[in-house]
Amino acid sequence: MSENFDVKLEKKCYVPDPACKEGARIPDYEKAYQEFLDDPDGFWDRIARELEWFQPWKQVKEWNHPYAKWFTDAKVNITHNCLDRHIFDGYRNRVAIIWRGEGGEERIVTYRQLYKEVMRFANALKDLGVMKGDRVCIYMPLVPEQIVAMLACARIGAVHSVVYGGFGANALNTRIRDAEAKIVITADIGMRRGKTIPLKGIVDEAVINAPSVERVVVLRRKEPLVELHSEMEVDFHEIMKAAEPVCAPEVMDSEDPLFTLYTSGTTGTPKGILHTCGGYMVGTYYTTKYIFDLKEHDVFWCTADPGWITGHSYIVYGPLAACATVLITETTPDYPDPGIWWKIIEDFGVTIFYTAPTAIRMFMKLGEEWPDKYDLSSIRILGSVGEPLNPEAFEWYYHVIGKDRCPLLDTWWQTETGMHMITTLVGEPMKPGFAGKAVPGVVVDVVNKAGEPVPAGTGGFLIIKEPWPSMMRTVYNNDERYRQYWETIPPYYAAGDLAVKDEDGYIMVIGRADDVIIVAGHNIGSAEIESALVSHESVAEAAAIGKPDPVKGNTIKAFVILRVGYEPSEKLMHELIYHVRMTLGPIAMPSEIEFVTSLPKTRSGKIMRRVLKAKELGMDPGDISTLED
Ligand code: PRX
Repeated sequence: MSENFDVKLEKKCYVPDPACKEGARIPDYEKAYQEFLDDPDGFWDRIARELEWFQPWKQVKEWNHPYAKWFTDAKVNITHNCLDRHIFDGYRNRVAIIWRGEGGEERIVTYRQLYKEVMRFANALKDLGVMKGDRVCIYMPLVPEQIVAMLACARIGAVHSVVYGGFGANALNTRIRDAEAKIVITADIGMRRGKTIPLKGIVDEAVINAPSVERVVVLRRKEPLVELHSEMEVDFHEIMKAAEPVCAPEVMDSEDPLFTLYTSGTTGTPKGILHTCGGYMVGTYYTTKYIFDLKEHDVFWCTADPGWITGHSYIVYGPLAACATVLITETTPDYPDPGIWWKIIEDFGVTIFYTAPTAIRMFMKLGEEWPDKYDLSSIRILGSVGEPLNPEAFEWYYHVIGKDRCPLLDTWWQTETGMHMITTLVGEPMKPGFAGKAVPGVVVDVVNKAGEPVPAGTGGFLIIKEPWPSMMRTVYNNDERYRQYWETIPPYYAAGDLAVKDEDGYIMVIGRADDVIIVAGHNIGSAEIESALVSHESVAEAAAIGKPDPVKGNTIKAFVILRVGYEPSEKLMHELIYHVRMTLGPIAMPSEIEFVTSLPKTRSGKIMRRVLKAKELGMDPGDISTLED
């Protein structure tokens, strides 16, 4: 896709009940935004002061394009703010985590219990030789221990790299190797639709060619307990039992790394987005509390997995720093039936519900009878994230789930941004199809290639003009790749998305401008799928594109040129799909493969995926002057 297209903009607008604004943490968007513009550093300074620091900052920010430092020389530990602060503020018995398993099991973890578990596990990691700055890979199902593992790393200054449990052995191996992780924390199994997923088996395979890995910590959930091999594998609970109970938080510099999280890019290798302690803490705390308008008795349910940035920021760090009660569940939205999520909302009185457009569209297809069976009146605020929320899905979510009374926040942001960047604040007029405006604290625009703002109704590139606290600091092991974000449309941060503004300044995000495919809200690089395909003995060349899908947003279609000696067949197609599944994981599986004899390429040999896509969708391929064949 290129920029400079005109978009016919929807004019529909919902004005929420003025009561929504009463008592809202940001009751007047324009005023809050102006306060930020008048004194940007003062704005962030005030928010940062709501948290506890071991030593205050000298400067709020130091900007040396494209490198930023936030809260310079300040000393902090994010877990002190997520745990100790609440323990000593009188909230020790408040519920931090409600976990619901697939079979209806429930676990309730208070802030005090979480604090104790995190300290013990932090000491257990130290006993394994983990030190400040060491990388730890976490590959776990959605259970409270996953959060304990993340916080324990942060407690001692180890840099965690959480890999989503839906990734396959090869994808996990790539991530372990790039981060040079010393420890891998996993579980014997994850649960999905009544079946067990053998996570440890995948780890066994992934650590074979990963020389940095010294130990594998295994959470054993299933009876009889899976056998642990050799000296390399240790039991999660046993090492905890043997550890000391008290672990003081490591004193971290505001700019010390907190975690890396891999996200797909336009090359075959995923990017390890690096976030640091101070700025990320302030950004996620601020947005959870002020953008989601978090109140004392809220039950906050973000349906993501901590393996994605949404889970890092809005299951773990933001909500816990803001002392929220967080609900997590290992359930899938339609198992044992499509009423399960609505039942969970009714059972636990969820007040803030944050999910993805792909889930909403799936529920839409299944019909209103499922949500209508349950009492959803506890819901106060709805949220959406991960891909464009199309107007039809907005309407359904707003009417059927929100009963026309809940503010619906379509939040645009990225792994790289760490926190919400664009949305419509609680109480502000909502426009279906539009994410909204920049949150106070952030400056965004839609521009052409030269960086000039485009008029309302004309498409362009979404950019961020000024640094913000929770911005990524670099791409792990690839600073060059980091600089590209700021050098593509200088001096701005180019998000890689296409967008359009309307007359009121509301922003509609249209989709990616590059070769990243968003399938069911998960980013997958075309190049990653292609390199998985060519790693199969039969494949000479491959190209992968996203095809619009009414539920998942996109599905993957791959075009494959076979090596001499191989013939196209249905069997081979299934074998290739299975091969990608085993290499990258189920989320990257093509739903279609077409065998071809040539691929459109530029003179320099680069596959022109947009030409394939245009042909597939019966569209005009645009400028093909660089096409060789
Ligand atoms: O294309 C945008 C899309 O998701 C991309 C970021 O993906 P990731 O780093 O995996 O983070 C997803 C969760 C924050 C963006 O470049 N995206 C995310 N939120 C929205 C969106 N597209 C449209 N509307 C959104 N609300």
